[in-house]
Amino acid sequence: MTDYQQESIEKTYRFVEQFHTHDTTGHDWWHVERVTRTARKLAVEENANLFLVEMAALLHDIDDWKLGLEEDNKTEAFLEQISISAEDKHSILKIIDEVSFKGAEVATPTSSIESMCVQDADRLDAIGAIGVARAFTYGGSKNRSLYEPDVAPTMHHSFGDYKTKHSHTINHFYEKLLLLKERINTPTAKAIAEERHAFMEQFLVQFYREWNAE
Ligand code: ADP
Ligand code: NI
Repeated sequence: MTDYQQESIEKTYRFVEQFHTHDTTGHDWWHVERVTRTARKLAVEENANLFLVEMAALLHDIDDWKLGLEEDNKTEAFLEQISISAEDKHSILKIIDEVSFKGAEVATPTSSIESMCVQDADRLDAIGAIGVARAFTYGGSKNRSLYEPDVAPTMHHSFGDYKTKHSHTINHFYEKLLLLKERINTPTAKAIAEERHAFMEQFLVQFYREWNAE
């Protein structure tokens, strides 16, 4: 990596760490840190551009719709402020734009290997033990109940519905978390996803057993 790239990454770490410090919706700094570490690992395995992957992973949740932010693009404003090249800026914003899950029946295509690495890293952090913990943290932050036995999951057909139709947290497993394994791009991430997926299935079995006082 060039000095200029190293310097941009350091500035970005400082900005992002500060930005996410007080988040309690599952988008805290440590989520971003884990995603960045995993994305780097995938980028090495997949021979992706490390600079673009690390920058996009660090910035991927700055303008997330779930954080309730306005339309203004803080990510772009930051990239302009650190005087990154127009080409790099464009590539980083495109990767970030392609990261998010938008509903069970909504396709989320990736157009580069860099996008695949960041999308996979973000999805891996939504499953497994950390995924379970984050789901209930997020649900709690939105006043959602753990589980309502009479309320079935919904397979959302549009991003609009996914954003606005709310349910209890157990449904989130069926509406998103258990679907992620099949929507992983890279082989390295796929192997990690299998193990984390099995853990979530085991969690649900145990949850229902306890719920039913078995
Ligand atoms: P990510 O940061 O991995 O893109 P999201 O931004 O979609 O994930 O959501 C942040 C965390 O909150 C994730 O772990 C996600 O599974 C969880 N989450 C998002 N929506 C819900 C929901 N409706 N109920 C429970 N957890 C949710
Ligand atoms: Ni994220």
